[in-house]
Amino acid sequence: MQIGKATAQAFPNIALIKYWGNRDPLLRLPANSSLSMNMAGLTTTTTVAFDDSLGEDVVVLGGREQSGAAKDRVVKMLERARAMAGAGANARVESLNNFPAGAGLASSASGFAALAVASAAAAGLNLDERALSRLARTGSGSACRSVPGGYVEWQAGTDDATSYAFSIAPPEHWDLRDMIAIVDVAHKTVGSTQGHALADTSPLHAARVSTIPERLSQVRAAIESRDFASLAPVVEADALAMHAVMMTSNPPLLYWQPPTVAILHAVRAWRTDGLPVCFTIDAGANVHCLCESSAADEVTRRLRSIAGVQNVLAVSPGGPAHCVENHLF
Ligand code: DP6
Repeated sequence: MQIGKATAQAFPNIALIKYWGNRDPLLRLPANSSLSMNMAGLTTTTTVAFDDSLGEDVVVLGGREQSGAAKDRVVKMLERARAMAGAGANARVESLNNFPAGAGLASSASGFAALAVASAAAAGLNLDERALSRLARTGSGSACRSVPGGYVEWQAGTDDATSYAFSIAPPEHWDLRDMIAIVDVAHKTVGSTQGHALADTSPLHAARVSTIPERLSQVRAAIESRDFASLAPVVEADALAMHAVMMTSNPPLLYWQPPTVAILHAVRAWRTDGLPVCFTIDAGANVHCLCESSAADEVTRRLRSIAGVQNVLAVSPGGPAHCVENHLF
């Protein structure tokens, strides 16, 4: 018998100040606070149905039933929701993305944000945004930033209760665009979870972490005053600092491909010429080109002319993760 079913949607987010490295990998307490923008248009839709006729949890991602580590990661979150609700039924989870997974497009962020919201609702829990953000964080760190809407800060905190994300400005505050140059859609070889565990092996990690408080306040102020010229250099500096940590960890991680580097040079030259655009890169080869809305068409046109750019996805600021359907039986 079905005892609770809910469907939730969430957007991924692009970090302007990155999360890299954990102080506590089990709880995903990050080495540093981070700040992001939700990405409307790239959507994960997840349904959780608790059903006491199921012999075990069933996890279907993108139409494929999962087993092993991918399933375990989802089951862990179901277990947290069940423990909070004091309920025991197994669940069927179905999740669909409208964008490619594993290509540096943060599918784990929207995936675990939607899963947290759907599992909590299906389990009959009435959690506030902070509690949902904390729950999402335990599935994937960056997922905690996809729970609130718009421009979001994840305060690192010192324990489970104090490590959560909150909105610093709604999506309509600033119509920034993220034009994502897709240069590689293959599944990345070293995922973020493994990568975070290597951060400490880089001699540059502590140096980067020490720059974060000042960079965070610069990015916060630039967002507040919609000041692209102040935002751009800080966003690029932190993305490069994170990749420097990745490249100097042991073993080293090099996510960039030749077109990645070509885009970095091009974006800097375009900005020097007056186009309001800057870059950031997650744990992948694709380049996120943030720009003012007035420059979006021009940035797309120029990106498409660079060899190796397979596609350009256009994203604008997105709202919070939310339930689209909820039935409690
Ligand atoms: C490079 O949140 O994907 O995108 O907690 O292991 O799921 P897990 O890691 P994840 O790490 C994101 C890393 C990043 C930077 C960022 O989004 O802040």
